[in-house]
Parts: sequence; structure tokens; C-alpha cells
Amino acid sequence: TDRYAVFGNPIAHSKSPQIHRLFAQQTGQDLTYEAILAPLDDFTSVAKDFFQQGQGANITVPFKEDAYRLADQLTERARLAGAVNTLKRQADGSLLGDNTDGAGLVNDLSNNAGISLTGLNILLLGAGGAVRGVLEPLLAQQPARLVIANRTEEKAAHLASLFADFGLVEVSHFEALQTPFDLIINGTSASLSGAVPPIPVLCVQAGHTLCYDMMYSKEPTAFNQWALECGAARALDGLGMLVEQAAESFALWRGVRPETQSVLSLLREQVQ
Ligand code: ATR
Repeated sequence: TDRYAVFGNPIAHSKSPQIHRLFAQQTGQDLTYEAILAPLDDFTSVAKDFFQQGQGANITVPFKEDAYRLADQLTERARLAGAVNTLKRQADGSLLGDNTDGAGLVNDLSNNAGISLTGLNILLLGAGGAVRGVLEPLLAQQPARLVIANRTEEKAAHLASLFADFGLVEVSHFEALQTPFDLIINGTSASLSGAVPPIPVLCVQAGHTLCYDMMYSKEPTAFNQWALECGAARALDGLGMLVEQAAESFALWRGVRPETQSVLSLLREQVQ
């Protein structure tokens, strides 16, 4: 039986074991998937140990950069993300590092929300690891306009320059935004503390704008509550992204793509 795991700290509340076990059941794959708590200062030796036998792993906070350094080869999207959320042991024992977060976001928007990103005006809030991880997959969809706004504007400018080869990325302060957007994606961690980035209400066009928080929680996130108060057409959270990034990892490991809708519905019932 092939062995898989997710590494993180903390890790107890991770939904990944349940998601991957459901995928395995559904596709008839014989595998185990466990959650492993790695010490903050020793991810690398715990991961190396696991890969004596293990076939693949997901990596979550705060080890995605460590996993990037551990990987022997990187996919293009992992290299651009500067972070690895998926490791796969190759036939020769070496480790391939991938990043499926951006594909997870794009697939959630297209498959679950029915939104094509091509030609849209998109505002991305934040300039940390979460935003860097999704930039190239978003640009590949050819939005009409992509603006990154961040509390610390230099970090947004740095990301824009890193991805210059993949499309024009505009940079702004939160308060300086002056136009409505079709889609606003919150990639800041502000929701964790119940805060909302101070963007002008005019960014949300009532009845039209779709708002998306990469975070998820039982109640609507602070950002999604704010969005609905502004009249956003819809406010979606990141639970779908979580399931879709998992499906993308599963496909890389097993060569089979699981169906995600039923898994997402089940998780949604549990979260509520
Ligand atoms: P992650 O891996 O989740 O992206 P990170 O790299 O620490 O974590 O980035 C956190 C992001 O959330 C940053 O863009 C941060 O803004 P700064 O670059 O100015 O620090 C943003 N952020 C965190 N708390 C915030 C808040 N209360 N209001 C606005 N932005 C916030």
C-alpha cells in the first residue's frame, strides 16, 4: 500500500487526510494518507525520513519554503511560486516539488463557481506567499487587468516585477484604488484576525462583483461579510480551493483525476 501524508505545524485540524481518503475510495486507489506534525525547526529530517517509504506528501504552513528547498526537481509553477505544497517521490528516489495552489484556485472558480477569468478585471489583495503561489496560474487565464494591492506596497511591486514576463501586473495601495472590479480575491491573512483590508467600497460593483476569500471558516470570513454588505453578487470562501488543490496533487501522484463536487459538498456540510 502506497503511503502519503500532509506535513504542517499545527496539523491536527487539517482536512487533507479526509479529502484524500475520499479521493482514494472514489477512484479505487489503494493508499494511506496521514497527518504528520513536524517540529518547526526540523521539517527536513522528518520529511526525508518519511520518504524512505512514502510516495508523496502535501506540505502546508509553515513548511512550503522548506519543501521548495528539499525538492530535487521543481515544476515551473513551483519555481515561480517559490514554494512547494506537493512532493512526489520519483522512480530513482529523487523528490519532485510542485505547487497546486494556483491551479486549485483557478479550477475552483471555473468548475465550481462557473467563472471564466479570461477578460476579467481582477483585484488581488495581499503580496505574501499565498498571492505569489497563485499569480502565474491567474495570469495564464489572460485577465483583462490584474491589480495587486497590499498594505506594504513594495512587496506588491516586487511580485509584479517577478512576474513581468507573464503579463502586466499593476500595483496599488488599498486606499488608492479607484475603479470597480469583476473579481476581488483576498489573499491577505487579515481574515485570521477578523480584519478587512481597507479598500474603497467603489471597488465592489453592486450585483456584479464576485468576491473570493482564500481563507475559509464556519461563518463567512470578515472579508466576505464586508463584500456582501457592499452588495457583491457572490462571496465565496477558500474551501473549494482546498479541495481542488488536493485533486491536482492526487492527479500528479496517481495519474487519475478525482471528482471534486461530492467531496466539496460533504466538507461544506461538516463546516456548517
Ligand atoms: P501568506 O503565506 O498567508 O501569504 P504572508 O506571506 O505572511 O502569509 O503574507 C500575509 C499577507 O497578508 C501580506 O500581504 C500582509 O500584508 P503586508 O505585506 O503588508 O504585511 C497581509 N496582511 C496580514 N494582516 C493584514 C491586515 N490586518 N490588513 C491588511 N493586510 C494584512
